[in-house]
Amino acid sequence: MLLENASLELLKRALPELDAGFEELPALARPSMASARQFEVMAEVATLLQNNFPYFHPLYAGQMLNPPHPIARAAYALATWINPNNHALDGGRASSAMEKESVAEIAAMFGWKEHLGHLCGGGTMANLEALWVAGQLHPDKKVVASDQAHYTHQRITSVLKLPFAAVASDSRGRMDLAALEKMLEAGDVGTIVATIGTTGTGSVDPLPEILHLARTYGVRVHADCAYGGYFKLATTLPPEARAAYDQIAKVDSIVIDPHKHGLQPYGCGCVLFKDPSVGTHYKHESPYTYFTAADLHLGEISLECSRPGASAVALWATQRLLPLTEGGEFAKMLESSRQAAVTFSDLLCGDPRWVVPFAPELDIVVWAPRARTAEETSALSQKIFDQSALQNLHLALIHLPARFFTSAALPKPMWASTEGKVLCLRSCLMKPEHRDWLPRIWEILGTAADAVLPR
Ligand SMILES: Cc1ncc(COP(=O)(O)O)c(C=O)c1O
Repeated sequence: MLLENASLELLKRALPELDAGFEELPALARPSMASARQFEVMAEVATLLQNNFPYFHPLYAGQMLNPPHPIARAAYALATWINPNNHALDGGRASSAMEKESVAEIAAMFGWKEHLGHLCGGGTMANLEALWVAGQLHPDKKVVASDQAHYTHQRITSVLKLPFAAVASDSRGRMDLAALEKMLEAGDVGTIVATIGTTGTGSVDPLPEILHLARTYGVRVHADCAYGGYFKLATTLPPEARAAYDQIAKVDSIVIDPHKHGLQPYGCGCVLFKDPSVGTHYKHESPYTYFTAADLHLGEISLECSRPGASAVALWATQRLLPLTEGGEFAKMLESSRQAAVTFSDLLCGDPRWVVPFAPELDIVVWAPRARTAEETSALSQKIFDQSALQNLHLALIHLPARFFTSAALPKPMWASTEGKVLCLRSCLMKPEHRDWLPRIWEILGTAADAVLPR
């Protein structure tokens, strides 16, 4: 069997443990076996789910998709037998405590002893909360983010009716500091979003310099670490990225997605604020909830009402097994992904068929087939993507600014024009196994290139 099934055994052993906690209740009559119709429907579900790319397999080396850890899968499923709701303590006492503990561990990873934070649906919801608070503190002032930041920031600001402006990026996909300063000089910026690991290329905005400018001009800094946050624990980052991670504790708010690199099932984002007093912006009355305890109900500090306690349980179990410590097993998994990306990028750079615009800062590699024009490159990228998929190697595609390919280190002129976009190949090497699977990935990519590239 290719799919992991250790989680079934974990679940099977834990379910009676959970049940034992309720043994004083009167017995319930329950069928001990699912009905024949339930088996039929589940078989249908399994068949329908076959219509997917094999996200769990290391030959899936495309988008940001990673299987949850077996313990997260088992703990999540176990919690659904109770189905706690982390809105109020009345709906999920244990899971709310687990959420507070897990979120505090994430805050501590970034160097915060004090914080206000909680889990939410994902990176978009977490960024929405961070920018909503930013808007409460600086109403009518602009939110600015690099043109390589996730599109969610522009959309969120339009939902929040806050002005937004995109800051130009440099040739490595990082926020351009001169362009940022020019915007700050106008005096109408309230918040800078620094992306610590862009979605497209894993580029890390220059946070130390951004913080310096923010202090000079009196603006807030929000760090979107939805993808890259956990790399705080990796000891193998290039120096400029390392310098950015070392300063994350100085920002005003942070978003990180446990459902990206934190081995969680989807539906697990996290927002953190450095100053717990921003909690006052969430203040609201609820005639329905918040009765059974004077302790903080998580619903009092989040915009979403009902939230899955199961997410918190899964995260707690994962962090219990794999603590967020430098040098620990989890950190080594991230370092393995990063090593895979560096090795892959080196292999590509050493092969004249490919061009790599810049070395990966995290574990995302972008590259393109070498060709005379940007149009030709785009067409070949698409063909290689298709050809690789036929051989079960699943990559991703990305439109990158053509100017990314004009670095002095690249043979010039690759393209006459540096305007516009070019379609490139992209690989998020998120699985620790990717490192050991690189020879296979390289071999398939080579075969695909042989079939597609002109000789
Ligand atoms: C940097 C960054 N921010 C925000 C998001 C949005 O997160 P989600 O898809 O969890 O809503 C993503 C998703 O890829 C991301 O990479």
